[in-house]
Amino acid sequence: MIRIAIQSKGRLNEQSLELLKDAGVIVDSLKRQFLGRAEGFPLEVLYLRDDDIPEVVADGSADIGIVGLNEVAEKNADVEVLRQLGFGRCRLSLAVPKNAGYEGIQWFEGKHIATSYPNVLNAFLAKQGISATVRTIMGSVEIAPAAGIADGIFDIVSSGGTLISNGLVEVERVMESEAVLIAGRSLSDEKQALLRSLLFRIDAVSESRDKKYILMNIPTDKVDEAIRILPAMRSPTVMPLAAKGWSSLHSVVKEKELWDKVERLKALGAEGILVLHLDKVIE
Ligand code: PRP
Ligand code: ZN
Repeated sequence: MIRIAIQSKGRLNEQSLELLKDAGVIVDSLKRQFLGRAEGFPLEVLYLRDDDIPEVVADGSADIGIVGLNEVAEKNADVEVLRQLGFGRCRLSLAVPKNAGYEGIQWFEGKHIATSYPNVLNAFLAKQGISATVRTIMGSVEIAPAAGIADGIFDIVSSGGTLISNGLVEVERVMESEAVLIAGRSLSDEKQALLRSLLFRIDAVSESRDKKYILMNIPTDKVDEAIRILPAMRSPTVMPLAAKGWSSLHSVVKEKELWDKVERLKALGAEGILVLHLDKVIE
């Protein structure tokens, strides 16, 4: 049995459960409690506040965890970051009231800054040679300037909506963050074996997430050129069509390169291009 800590509610909860589900580890989120047992894998789920996850994994109360890199950095916990998971992307930024006349980092000299991330902020200020007073507030940091508690804030920015609705502007991006899978440093052999098999599944899911399966009909004399556009895992599959002089070409393409490649393939004479969802990619 291996125990994973995930966020009980908030930005990472749903996508953490979804990743586990895609990896064949079903956690019934309706029956969610403090500690739950998964189906499909010998795994227990500990639901926690994101802020508590790094320490709980570091002290062995949970073996692994899914949490924002921002929390790992803030807690400076002794854990290993095993994978970046590609969701929950955000940044830790300094923000000030929009009419503050901000011209550069010197603006913060002698000011008060409200944050839930004092360690990351203090390290940044020290590196910049700025001395400011850091006020730690656990939640609703964005209202601190309007409430007269601080001159600026240092907080998570994702869509930027929270800043806008509080009349603040982002002025310095300090750290990029996303969900990461972390592990404790002294797992038993049994737990390490379970972790390896869970990672194998998670990698297959991650590999599939930014890729599509693509197939098309293409004049046989253009197949070589098409293969140069679509390298695939080992090499694309090419099959003759019943219609003479035509082949069917199957491959895998990164989603962000899809439209560019489709245009080039069409220019080569490709027809009937189908783009399909990939569920898992096992390499
Ligand atoms: C963060 C942060 C802001 C908001 C920013 O809180 O404190 O309130 O998200 O997101 P936006 O740029 O998309 O508006 P979160 O909900 O993550 O809660 P937490 O600080 O307790 O983890
Ligand atoms: Zn939190």
